Amino acid sequence: MCGIFCYIGPRNAVRLVLEGIQKLEYRGYDSSGIALVSEGKLIFVKKMGKVAVLQAAIENQLSQQHLVAHTAVAHTRWATHGKPSDTNAHPHSDRKELCAVVHNGIIENHEAVRHLLEKRGIIFRSETDTEVISQLIGYLYKGNFLKAVQRGLALLQGAFALAVVHQNHPHEVICAAKESPLAIGIGEGEMFIASDPYAFVNHTKRAIYLHSSEIAVVTKNSVRAFNSRLLPIQKESEDLKLDVQEAIKGKYPHYMLKEIFEQPQTIQNALLSRYSEEYGTAILEGAHFSDEDLLKIQRIIILGCGTSYHAGMLGAYMLQEKARIPVEVEISSEFRYKNPIVVENTLAIAISQSGETADTLAALKELKAKGAKILGICNVQGSSIAREVDSSLFLRAGPEIGVASTKAFTSQVIILALLTLKLARMRLMGQNEGKQYIECLKRLPSQVKEVLEQADYIQSLAKKYAHYEDFFFLGRRLMYPTALEAALKLTEIAYVNAKGYPAGEMKHGPIALINESCPTLAFCADAVTYQKILSNMMEIKARGGKILAVVPEGATDIKKVADDIFWVPKTIDELSPICSTLFGQLFAYYVALERGTEIDQPRNLAKSVTVE
Ligand code: M6R
Repeated sequence: MCGIFCYIGPRNAVRLVLEGIQKLEYRGYDSSGIALVSEGKLIFVKKMGKVAVLQAAIENQLSQQHLVAHTAVAHTRWATHGKPSDTNAHPHSDRKELCAVVHNGIIENHEAVRHLLEKRGIIFRSETDTEVISQLIGYLYKGNFLKAVQRGLALLQGAFALAVVHQNHPHEVICAAKESPLAIGIGEGEMFIASDPYAFVNHTKRAIYLHSSEIAVVTKNSVRAFNSRLLPIQKESEDLKLDVQEAIKGKYPHYMLKEIFEQPQTIQNALLSRYSEEYGTAILEGAHFSDEDLLKIQRIIILGCGTSYHAGMLGAYMLQEKARIPVEVEISSEFRYKNPIVVENTLAIAISQSGETADTLAALKELKAKGAKILGICNVQGSSIAREVDSSLFLRAGPEIGVASTKAFTSQVIILALLTLKLARMRLMGQNEGKQYIECLKRLPSQVKEVLEQADYIQSLAKKYAHYEDFFFLGRRLMYPTALEAALKLTEIAYVNAKGYPAGEMKHGPIALINESCPTLAFCADAVTYQKILSNMMEIKARGGKILAVVPEGATDIKKVADDIFWVPKTIDELSPICSTLFGQLFAYYVALERGTEIDQPRNLAKSVTVE
């Protein structure tokens, strides 16, 4: 979390870094700041709040001081150590204010280093772990900038990336990455440094990635890279395959809405050339597992957080039911503390849109060390998780900017459905069933369009329910993770207490909360459990609870129990979460719109969660 953006070159560094951190705001927006080298001096501007607040402050300062800068480092923060404030905002400096540090990730031993420096008379200004870096570099600096950074890094533990500028070395920025990636964009006589190359792809499509414990000295014309012992290393540049247009809101008021409406296409992309109609099976190009490897699988462990965990839950239902392989699905942040047992022929699947989620990365490393083969399901190529796993299947969903994950979720489910098809066909599913399964997959983009065409109706339902503060979101079997996902969407963007629950569990306690001010959204598109959830809804109705039901077309008996109904196109159970999720996403979006919350950047959240 947190976003770093730096520029060195002939252009106006201030404008460029502001534009850069604006693009990185999805990584955190509690505060932002820049440090620039102007006329041989370091100047800091830092503000609590979004980049727009910083921008206003800088414009004010610029007009007063006529600042010109060709080297600048900038940062947008998601607070970890210390509350959001001007003081805790990055960049941080040493006691003489000669260097400025921007950093993402966490310094795990920051307290120990802080005490060490305090004993030597250094007084800290902020509560952050980042100031430990800047004070340390300042303390170690004896004229050799690179040496000071390298010696400082050797004392720091954790997963992080950073960039430093020093007043006495105005024409270079030193950057480093330790288990958290950092991209250096190579322009013509100018360089960019960013936590995510998407932030500079409009300037250059050539980039170098720093990985574990690598340091680089960047000037406007050169990048010199070193390992942690300062031995020079050769880094190859890569051509970025990012499309600038994909990351633009276009006609939509919010990224979230744009990303919801992209789903007919993103689902198509996820499916493209990944199945054979002739053989009624899936083609998992990209997953470097032979058929022999796949046949050997005896157990599957799926890891993920948040929305990716919900996709994993759906995968577990599908794989276990259709391929008859025992599957466990685990929340990454809990999994590694269970001292996991890895039996022979275990396949682990790590699901992550960003590919940077620290909890998932740590959990998969634990599994890898214990001998499991890991398949990644990621959206971002070149991300930390994609690099760590044995092989990856990419979502091909394009950049997802809205903090609430939408199109990535449906693509994750599609990939899991394809994996299910592949493994099931190798075991007990017949060719004809495989062919029917593919027919249903192929129909999804147009079925999703049908849901999107009803956006106005969903908005009218959202208006009706927007004033409630508490909700239950219920489902059974494949509709249970679907309900969890829809509840998460509403919670995170509309700040409503939406509790996802397995409908059959209500009678074991939570039904005590049902009354006329706590409505239920019931997800009823799972055919196997349809009659069961109908009974659960009756129990809620009998206690005065209002019900909005999401139901497959044709299931008219729902009318006697639901107050409001949204009909979704019919499909097989394994794929039924897709259209129901579309409803959940749009419902959350329109409730948030009605409540006036910050949809793309909800409070306290960040898109890429790179801390444990
Ligand atoms: O990038 P990842 O898929 O690993 O992210 C996992 C979660 O942080 C993410 O899904 C989060 O829950 C979203 N805000 C949900 O909309």
